[in-house]
Amino acid sequence: MTFETHSAKSYSITSASIHPFSYLRCMRKLIVNISEIAGILDDSVPRKAGSEMSEIDILSNGWITIKDGLIEDYGTGTPPEGADETIDAGSGIVLPAFCDSHTHLVFAGSREDEYVHKVMGLSYEEIARRGGGILNSAKLLQQTPEKELYRQSLVRAEEIISLGTGAVEIKSGYGLTAEDEAKMLRVARRIGEETALTVRTTFLGAHSFPAEYRDNRDAYVNLIINEMLPVVAAENLADYIDVFCDRGFFSVEQTERILEAGARYGLRPKIHANELDYSGGIQTGVRNDALSVDHLEFTGEEEIEILKGSDTIPALLPGASLFLGMQYAPARRMIDSGLPVALASDYNPGSSPSGNMKLIMSLGMIMMKMLPAEVLNAVTINGAYAMGLEKTHGSVTRGKIANLAITKPIPGINFIPYAYGSNLVAQVILEGEMQL
Ligand code: NIG
Ligand code: FE
Repeated sequence: MTFETHSAKSYSITSASIHPFSYLRCMRKLIVNISEIAGILDDSVPRKAGSEMSEIDILSNGWITIKDGLIEDYGTGTPPEGADETIDAGSGIVLPAFCDSHTHLVFAGSREDEYVHKVMGLSYEEIARRGGGILNSAKLLQQTPEKELYRQSLVRAEEIISLGTGAVEIKSGYGLTAEDEAKMLRVARRIGEETALTVRTTFLGAHSFPAEYRDNRDAYVNLIINEMLPVVAAENLADYIDVFCDRGFFSVEQTERILEAGARYGLRPKIHANELDYSGGIQTGVRNDALSVDHLEFTGEEEIEILKGSDTIPALLPGASLFLGMQYAPARRMIDSGLPVALASDYNPGSSPSGNMKLIMSLGMIMMKMLPAEVLNAVTINGAYAMGLEKTHGSVTRGKIANLAITKPIPGINFIPYAYGSNLVAQVILEGEMQL
C-alpha cells in the first residue's frame, strides 16, 4: 500500500509537469450502479474451450475501481471510499470491451457498387477475376496518400470504439507492393498510438495476386519473401503474418514458403483458411504453429481433429458469411468437440463492411447456434487470445487493462445477442478513460 501511494504520487508529479492530462491516469476511478459485471476471470485463464465456453462469471450489484488505467478491484454491495472520480453505470451491465481479432479496417474508399453486381448475380470469385474485389481496393489504396488513408481509417477506428471494441487486429493486404503494404501497416500502428484502441498488426502481402503476376504467381511469392518481408521487419511494422490460403488464391506450398520466411523474422502466423473450400489451409496453419486460423467455413472432422491437438484457435467470421450469402463455419460442432472458438468481424470493404462486434455475437447465436455465454467468451477472452493479448485484455481481471463496455439497462447477458439490431453499448472505457 505504501509502495502504491508512493509510486502514484511520483508518477503524477513528473507526468503532470510534462502533460496536464497524464495526471488523470493516476486517479482512482470508481464505477458504481452496475447491475451485473460479466466476464470476470482470474488471470490464469488464457482462453475458453469446449464446455468452458458456456460459463460466464457474473457478479450482481457490483462496483469496479480503476487505477492507472488498470482494473484495480471489483466487488459487490457497498463500494469502497476514496475515489477521485465516480462513474455511474446507470444500472447497465459491465462487460470486457470486445477483442476483434481479425479486421482489414485500413482500406481506401468502399466497394458498394461491386456488391450491387453481386446482388445481380456475379459470384465473389467472378468479381475478383474481373479485376474487382481485393485488386479493386488495392488500386485505390495505392493511389491514396498515407495521410488520407489514416484519416479514412481513423473514422472506422472511432466507430468501432463507440460500438464497444477495445482491442483490434488490423491486416495489410490491399497494398500488394512493398511500399504500399508498409504504408498500410504504418497507418495501423498509428491508430494504435493515437487512439485508445490496442492494435495488433498483421502483414498480409499474400492477400491476392496482382494482375501482372497472374501468369507467374511464384514470382509474386518471391517478391513477398525477398522484398516485402524485409521492409516490414526492418521497420517493425507487423506482429503477425497472414496468407489467404484458399482455392484460387495461395496454394498450400506457397503458403508454407511464406510462413517459413515469416518465421525467420519471428512472425507467427494468423491465416485465412478454408473460406472457399477444403483447401488444406487449416492443416498448414497448425503445422506452422499459427496463433489462429480464420474463416473455416469449410471444416470437416479431419480439420477438427487436427485443431484439437494444437494451440491454434479457430477464429470464425460470420459477418463474411452473412454478407456473401455463404455457409457458416461449424461453430457448434467445434465447441462440442472441445475446441475454443473466437468470433471476429473481418471488417473489410469486400466481404464484411462492418466492425460491429455485437452484431457478430448475434450472428454467432442466430446462425451458428452458439449460446449467449459462448458468443460473449468468443468476442472477449478468446478474441484476446487470438491476438496474443490474453494476459492484458478480454476479461474483468485485477491488473488487466481497464477496457470495459457498459450497456444500457437490460435484463441480462442473454439480451445482448438477442436484441440483434439495437446498439446496447452506452459507455465505453478504454485504458481507464471514458471514450463516449
Ligand atoms: O477476409 N478472404 C480474404 N480476404 C477478405 C476479403 C477481402 C476483400 O474482399 O476485400 C476476407 O473476407
Ligand atoms: Fe479477412
